[in-house]
Amino acid sequence: MQKKTEDTRGTIAWRCPSNIALVKYWGKHGVQLPANPSLSFSLREAYTETWVDFEWTDNQEVSLDFIFEGKKNEAFALRIKEYIQNILHHLPSLQGMHLTLSSRNSFPHSSGIASSASAFGAMALILNDLYYQMEGKSIHSPEFLQEVSELARLGSGSASRSIYPGFVAWGKTETLAASSDQHAIPLKNSQVHDQFRKMNDTILIVSKGEKDVKSSAGHELMKGHPYAGARFGQAGENMQKMLRTLELGDLDDFMNITENEALSLHAMMMTSTPSYLLLKPNSLIIMEKIRNFRKQSKVPVCFTIDAGPNIHVIYPEQVEREVKDFIQNDLLVYCEANQWIDDGMGKGPEKLK
Ligand code: DP6
Repeated sequence: MQKKTEDTRGTIAWRCPSNIALVKYWGKHGVQLPANPSLSFSLREAYTETWVDFEWTDNQEVSLDFIFEGKKNEAFALRIKEYIQNILHHLPSLQGMHLTLSSRNSFPHSSGIASSASAFGAMALILNDLYYQMEGKSIHSPEFLQEVSELARLGSGSASRSIYPGFVAWGKTETLAASSDQHAIPLKNSQVHDQFRKMNDTILIVSKGEKDVKSSAGHELMKGHPYAGARFGQAGENMQKMLRTLELGDLDDFMNITENEALSLHAMMMTSTPSYLLLKPNSLIIMEKIRNFRKQSKVPVCFTIDAGPNIHVIYPEQVEREVKDFIQNDLLVYCEANQWIDDGMGKGPEKLK
């Protein structure tokens, strides 16, 4: 372990992507454990970059300042303080440090991209990296990322999946031997058919307004929800089907499962107490148009949606030209100020110099 002296100071920076879930995590129990397994792919363009300047103090606690996009952000600082307190027993040698954290997102607020996934992913990478540095351990050891995924999960469930590139599974799944509720795992190359190696996600911004329900409140709505048991069972089955489909390369099944998951998530919100209608009329028009286009053109393109009105258009890179033409000609008019974000499968987190 590194000796704590007044000159123990430095800077660490990481970039961590957001991810888009195809099999949705919706409902949790215990200490941030998922009610069902979920599967996502990590994005390329949507990420958070976080820097930490660290130094020792005489205090017993961890103290911190948090600067978001150039401004002090007290609300987020409080959330991070609470998060660090909760995970400090995993990182005891950070006790007594002062951290100045600065963060920025590559994507606009309320764009339909989960910022908590990339934000807590980046935070967990930084904190575990710092801990490893204090302990004199190498971040290239196999357990580093697994521990980061677990720490990220404790900040935000979906963040556990942002730690790896490509397709990532979180939650115990019978047919996936290494899967766990505690942390996510990346799918191996042999588990993903060539059809799915490069996936695009074009995000259509139907509305930039604040969400009516935060996901943490949304997960709560599954407690005592009349359809909770059926939903968790369905998600488990969809997970198994999706894993088989990814391996076999069946695009039709992939699209059916992805859309089924998105619509089930919204069905849960519509039928909870209180209930939420997060889709806008234009979200429905876009979904219908995507289905009609797929039927007529046979181009493999489908949609998914998170807890908001914006539509993620999901398709393999080989049909990019056809899908982009379709989006431009037929869908952009249904977006707020014609706004859309071009994204796709990325390479996972990166340590910044
Ligand atoms: C609809 O991970 O944001 O995006 O664990 O409370 O932070 P907390 O929730 P969060 O929930 C994500 C819900 C979702 C589906 C998904 O990403 O799997």
